[in-house]
Amino acid sequence: MSTEARLVDGREDGVVETTMLGQFAIVSVNNPPVNALGQSVRAALSTTLGELDADEAVAGIILTCAGRTFFAGADIAEFGLPALAPSLRDLLAQIENSAKPVLAAMHGTPLGGGLELAMACHLRLATLDTKMGLPEVKLGLIPGAGGTVRLPYLIGPEAALRMIVQGTTMDADEALEAGLIDGIVSSGAGFLSEAVTFIQTRLLAPTRIVPVRGRRQKIEQADRSAFETAAIALATRSKGSEAIAAAIGAVRNALFLSFEEALATERAAFDALVASEQSAAQRHIFFAERAARKAGSGVAPALRTEIRSVGVVGAGTMGGGIAMAFANAGFPVVLAEVNAEALERGHANIARNYATSVSRGSLSAEEAQRRLALIQGAPNLASLAHCDLIVEAVFEDMAIKKAVFAQLDGIARPDAILTTNTSYLDVNEIATATTRPANVLGLHFFSPANVMKLVEVVRADKTDPAILAAISELARRLDKVPVVVGVCHGFVGNRMLEARSAGMMDLLLEGATPEQVDRAFTDFGWPMGPFQMQDLAGLDISWRKRKSRGESLIIADDLCERGRLGQKTGKGYYRYEDGSRKPLSDDVVLDLIASASQARNIVRREISAEEIIERTHYPMINEGHRILGEAIVPRSSDIDIVWVYGYGFPQYKGGPMFWAERQGLDHVVARLEHWRAVTGQPAYLPSAELVQAAGLAEAERRPDKAVAQVHS
Ligand code: 3HC
Ligand code: NAI
Repeated sequence: MSTEARLVDGREDGVVETTMLGQFAIVSVNNPPVNALGQSVRAALSTTLGELDADEAVAGIILTCAGRTFFAGADIAEFGLPALAPSLRDLLAQIENSAKPVLAAMHGTPLGGGLELAMACHLRLATLDTKMGLPEVKLGLIPGAGGTVRLPYLIGPEAALRMIVQGTTMDADEALEAGLIDGIVSSGAGFLSEAVTFIQTRLLAPTRIVPVRGRRQKIEQADRSAFETAAIALATRSKGSEAIAAAIGAVRNALFLSFEEALATERAAFDALVASEQSAAQRHIFFAERAARKAGSGVAPALRTEIRSVGVVGAGTMGGGIAMAFANAGFPVVLAEVNAEALERGHANIARNYATSVSRGSLSAEEAQRRLALIQGAPNLASLAHCDLIVEAVFEDMAIKKAVFAQLDGIARPDAILTTNTSYLDVNEIATATTRPANVLGLHFFSPANVMKLVEVVRADKTDPAILAAISELARRLDKVPVVVGVCHGFVGNRMLEARSAGMMDLLLEGATPEQVDRAFTDFGWPMGPFQMQDLAGLDISWRKRKSRGESLIIADDLCERGRLGQKTGKGYYRYEDGSRKPLSDDVVLDLIASASQARNIVRREISAEEIIERTHYPMINEGHRILGEAIVPRSSDIDIVWVYGYGFPQYKGGPMFWAERQGLDHVVARLEHWRAVTGQPAYLPSAELVQAAGLAEAERRPDKAVAQVHS
């Protein structure tokens, strides 16, 4: 800061510090890590701004933040607690009504309440790399401090609607163009002096500085029918989310009501959402994600775990997607295959995927080319010798995987991290194929690996803990959410998926149709039902697996034997017309299911959506408690993260474990026992871990009585 600067005060343990630059007060807030607008910040800021407003020597105020970002929002940890004065809304009103112009000088990620505060200021500047947005819907909320009103005033209602409903950010260039900010400042030493020059120039300009509430032009000129069309499209895409419905309503109010009325309705909607189940669930996911990411922190990463170059073995479905995930994050990748032909096939798939993104407009042709060029093919493993990290994604077969790891052991640098993308296999056993088990772990990506956010990081018995910190950092660079899990069959996700699927065919045999099951799932909030999902993935994958193990599965095997392998053959559990992905009910399948019931003397009956959810979801929760009991993960919230980011469990239900707790674990136990009694299936036997978590003693459950009641 310039030598003219004069320290005026420092309050609240240095949370707010004021210095003078000429006639301008620079108010800098320092509340690490992200300058959340908690009560102590609001109080200190309010006092400081009040004093500066009354100080005749002050011509204007520049509000900025120390550290990595301008205010990243309200303090999420305060939601649900008794409100403490001053509220964020009061603070913003104070800023807006200040006699001295207040300029927000932003950097980092001004989000939520942070951006709302900036919009209550009289002027806004940002450094070029600033990313700003109102992501409250991701927490099951809407902006609650004027964001749904001031943003439409600044950038127009339709653009504001998209930004708020999708929770997207704008960078500084876009924000300037859209009218959200008034100028861009450099991020270096000139940051504050440029801000002072800017405010000085504005004060000398003949036009008044008009607060946002006075700028109605974009509201009055808005195309209201275009707004409604956009609103309908956005609402359809986000069925089930209360926050999104409320966000659309709130922005519409900015268009139709007065500024004050719109603010008041926004406030009421926000207050209702803060108290809602959905927002509690989404806030749980916010903190759960951050807790999961901390794995390995505290262990000093050894130098050798710095990852700069990556090798992928196998260019099939997963290997191709994994190579893309790394290339998208800027890593050079060597993609190795068994022979040139397999390599060519894999490379062509990757090129096709990038071309699709280009044709959809989500990626520029140059960027696609740049990413593609980062992926170098190799028809054998020898070219992986220099790689810091190698991901094996060959067939799911222990003997093949061990052979690959033994080969890698002889080729890879001694300090390379060797990982497997296995879905189910024992990573400890895979590690025995090498002379360096400390460097071996699982890195279980989800399909499509370039899209899905989850990575299960499988910690084997001998994995060096320092590697976990490096993998956590790597996941951040890949924009993935890592969850560290222990070794067991299927780890967390696929193990629970097996429990969820176990009774699915029974539901069909007893009277449900694939449509009814899928509808129960989508009404619950899943993006897709399990039968639609199987048609999409291809029924032959699990069929082949069953055959190799000498297993069979009623209905599913019949479909495969009739060549109904899912969407790729135009029919599976559903039929598909002319290459469309729309599932259509098929009498052939319904007849096949009915005859299977008849052959087993099962009298088909009505199956309710509630029964479908209980008989699929409760066994999965049961398995989740077993997983916790075995310490496969340390926290129940890790399981929620696996399901939200790996399988599409609705975020607004908080993941299966959170959802089950909200249902009441004792209720889950009772219902499992009920279904066990009705069906006689051991799959519904509540685990000791679940029972313990539910706080019920064994004796209290009286299973014999439950069975007797059902059969009487
Ligand atoms: N309140 C409280 N804590 C917050 C916070 C917030 N708004 N934002 C981040 N944190 C905490 C995190 O929990 C984490 O704490 P931990 O280290 O103890 O785990 C720490 O800050 C660092 O966060 P990240 O690990 O996420 O750091 P990144 O650098 O990866 O990301 C970020 C920074 C982009 C700011 C990201 O944290 C983020 O997206 N935060 C949430 C922003 C948000 O949703 N703001 C709106 C809040 S709701 C609101 O403002 C309501 C208003 O309309 C009334
Ligand atoms: P895939 O059959 O599509 O691809 C496997 C590839 O590995 C083939 O291209 C094959 O030529 C190649 N390969 C086989 N042996 C090799 C060797 N010795 N050296 C180099 N390449 C070799 O299989 P997919 O689906 O990609 O699965 C790979 C792994 O990922 C499996 O372990 C699977 O369980 C796991 N996985 C699969 C998911 C999926 O949805 N398909 C999801 C998550 C994990």
